[in-house]
Amino acid sequence: MSRTVIRGGLVITATEEVRADVLIEDETIAAVATPNVAQEWTADTVLDATDRYVIPGGVDAHTHMEMPFGGTFAADTFETGTRAAVFGGTTTIIDFAIQPVGGTLREGVEAWHAKADDQCAIDYGFHGILSDVGDGVLKEMDALVGEGITSFKMFMAYPGVFYSDDGQILRAMQQAGDNGALIMMHAENGIAIDVLVRQALEAGRTGPEQHGRVRHPLLEAEATHRAIKLSTVAGSPLYVVHVSATESVAEITRARHDGLNVFGETCPQYLFLSVDELDAPEFEGAKYVCSTPLRPAEHQESLWRALRTDDLSVVSTDHCPFCFAGQKELGREDFSKIPNGIPGVENRLDLLHDAVVAGRISRRRWVELASTAPARMFGLHPRKGTIAPGADADIVLYDPSAQQILSAETHHMNVDYNAYEGRWVTGRARTVLSRGEVVVDDGDYRGRPGRGRFLRRETCGYLT
Ligand code: URP
Ligand code: ZN
Ligand code: ZN
Ligand code: ZN
Repeated sequence: MSRTVIRGGLVITATEEVRADVLIEDETIAAVATPNVAQEWTADTVLDATDRYVIPGGVDAHTHMEMPFGGTFAADTFETGTRAAVFGGTTTIIDFAIQPVGGTLREGVEAWHAKADDQCAIDYGFHGILSDVGDGVLKEMDALVGEGITSFKMFMAYPGVFYSDDGQILRAMQQAGDNGALIMMHAENGIAIDVLVRQALEAGRTGPEQHGRVRHPLLEAEATHRAIKLSTVAGSPLYVVHVSATESVAEITRARHDGLNVFGETCPQYLFLSVDELDAPEFEGAKYVCSTPLRPAEHQESLWRALRTDDLSVVSTDHCPFCFAGQKELGREDFSKIPNGIPGVENRLDLLHDAVVAGRISRRRWVELASTAPARMFGLHPRKGTIAPGADADIVLYDPSAQQILSAETHHMNVDYNAYEGRWVTGRARTVLSRGEVVVDDGDYRGRPGRGRFLRRETCGYLT
């Protein structure tokens, strides 16, 4: 058995901050104790955490590695994307296995295993994406829940691609109510948006800035409202992904205050960027095309507030990188052909820590939003998302006073731009452990593809 001790750090979890040492035996945390107790411990390896926070590794519950979209593929593979994730202190990702149109959910899951198995540097799970709900798919959901795929994303947007109508949504929610799965909703009224897209193009308005105009915040709020009502009728919980608009937050807040099992996720791009980015000259606004879209800056205050009140419960990245050259450029003549998505799997913890420094959220809330809450929500807690005996030793030694500039020059994501280019942030993951193994050692990569394991998740204990 190998024994590692992390000495001298401030251990921060969602519930406490304590000067403590951490003992790791092989892949799991064996003990957490105050230094006077821990001085008795013997170890093969001692990691010095003086002046470091010792936090559970980040859990990014929303990534799209190699996702097909608009005739191209998201630029990070599971190898490059999980490598970038660990540099940023994230030690678990949950990606989305897509049911191919006309195919089965099982085919989607097998395709995702073929892409991810033997490639991931860190542990990974899958959600399913339901793109064509019928009797067969509903049965497949039950089987997949038994195999640890316990959440399924549906789209009220993208007619003709991933779109489900209200009847399909209701049926999938009823199924989830029975089998314990969590339905994750992309809540935008895609039918109305497509009308506005066509009108914009017909009027010759073709630039990236149109993306923000046609995807009106009320069309996000309307879909969020409808999803909440459908899930209430179906008797199933609901998790609304990538919430960006004040009006949508208000729907979720109301539902939660009514006691419903409704949860919301937002992403760093909605907290730190605004619709103004879409106006960047030379078509560079295309770098900021994602859905839901970036909003006017005043929406950010509602999102921060909801993160503090737990009306929004999780911050994930929706990491979906497309290079500017050759990929975003597919939409030069027509904004609706710009592949949707923003990279960020490497930057989430640091951007959120910068918000801790700015006084927007506490250190414990930072850990909760980035690690503990997603682990609970998606059936990985207490194996992931905390520092406690029995948990996997996924641990970050975080330097809270490091200064860094976010930039495509230095990031590890396989994409030719950084959405936060030039932004200074305070804080950086220095040493990262995944199941007891040091995968980033003071900035040097020590991981390897294939060491990450597929996570069979429980149904969502968070809700019970
Ligand atoms: O623009 C985005 N968010 N692309 C990824 C797919 C999705 O809808 O999450
Ligand atoms: Zn989405
Ligand atoms: Zn509230
Ligand atoms: Zn997404």
